[in-house]
Amino acid sequence: EKGGYEHFMLKEIHEQPRAVRDTIGAYVKDGKIDLSETGLTDEKLQEIERIYIVACGSAYHVGMVGKYVIEELADIPVEVDLASEFRYRNPKLVKNSLVVIVSQSGETADSLAALRLAKERKIPVLGIVNVVGSSIARESDYILYTYAGPEISVATTKAYSTQLIAMYLLAIQAAKVKDVISEERYAALIEELGTLPEKIQKTLDDKERIQWFASKYANAKDVFFIGRGIDYAISMEGSLKMKEISYIHSEAYAAGELKHGTISLIEDGILVVGVATQAALFEKTISNMVEVKSRGAYLMGLTTYGNYNIEDTADFAVYVPQTESFFATSLAIVPLQLMGYYVSVAKGLDVDKPRNLAKSVTVE
Ligand code: M6R
Repeated sequence: EKGGYEHFMLKEIHEQPRAVRDTIGAYVKDGKIDLSETGLTDEKLQEIERIYIVACGSAYHVGMVGKYVIEELADIPVEVDLASEFRYRNPKLVKNSLVVIVSQSGETADSLAALRLAKERKIPVLGIVNVVGSSIARESDYILYTYAGPEISVATTKAYSTQLIAMYLLAIQAAKVKDVISEERYAALIEELGTLPEKIQKTLDDKERIQWFASKYANAKDVFFIGRGIDYAISMEGSLKMKEISYIHSEAYAAGELKHGTISLIEDGILVVGVATQAALFEKTISNMVEVKSRGAYLMGLTTYGNYNIEDTADFAVYVPQTESFFATSLAIVPLQLMGYYVSVAKGLDVDKPRNLAKSVTVE
């Protein structure tokens, strides 16, 4: 059942090119996005003036990426909330808005409660859900299914990757119907989307290097992940993967926040992972990497091919293929998933069933 892999997590990491291809294939036809199957027609999408993305855990991290992508591409203001916060804080939901609930299982108690709150307030809900017929799928007004297939490992990988695709689809289509991008740009984005499965496969082909690095750092006590913009969102997910299955304390920090407190924790030998996939923020993040390095950190740098000068600062560099800046998350997350996985394996832990965690959190 593990298809020759030692753990479900490794199998599911390797299924990502297929999962992403299937999710794109379900909604892209003849070079155009068609969301009609979800119920969210172009006419309805055009009327949306604000989006609230609400989720837990990794699905919340997808929401953070969604915020950057939707705001930047479609020019719609987006708020992202943790479901457990949203449901108890009497959120101000404006009219002509859309609540997006992201959930692999479709059964997460807090996310379901957030959905019900939105519906009570008469705000339409789009569910981005993997499990067909789950509670969130049934109660959503519109439903965009991801096609990850069954995910067994507690640590999500392929479901996360397909949820990112859902965000890109929503952002690109909203940009189109609101007429804020040109036909050429629309076509180019969809074409680039289609290259992601192959590029994800390329990052997987590099896994031996990550395995080597992970086993070297398996005894680390603390790891910090830093990045800006979308790279901060990637850092949050990389950090969660690390702590959830490797039991290593890790934190993600917006790189620019380091000097407001966290940098005091940096000392000799502390592992810092600097994520710098965004060209516009590259130099800024590098300067934060220089700051931690000069305080003794051991630095892993994660960027795209071509940015080889990261090696002037990073002790260990990992490259992912170049893509549209918005889509970089889909590639950069793969080495971070592998890092979490191989550290967990090196420590002899129960990778697929980490202590104290459940696959689906049906109690609040
Ligand atoms: O089923 P859901 O997507 O609603 O689950 C949300 C979180 O519980 C989930 O993403 C959790 O953070 C994962 N274990 C992370 O790998």
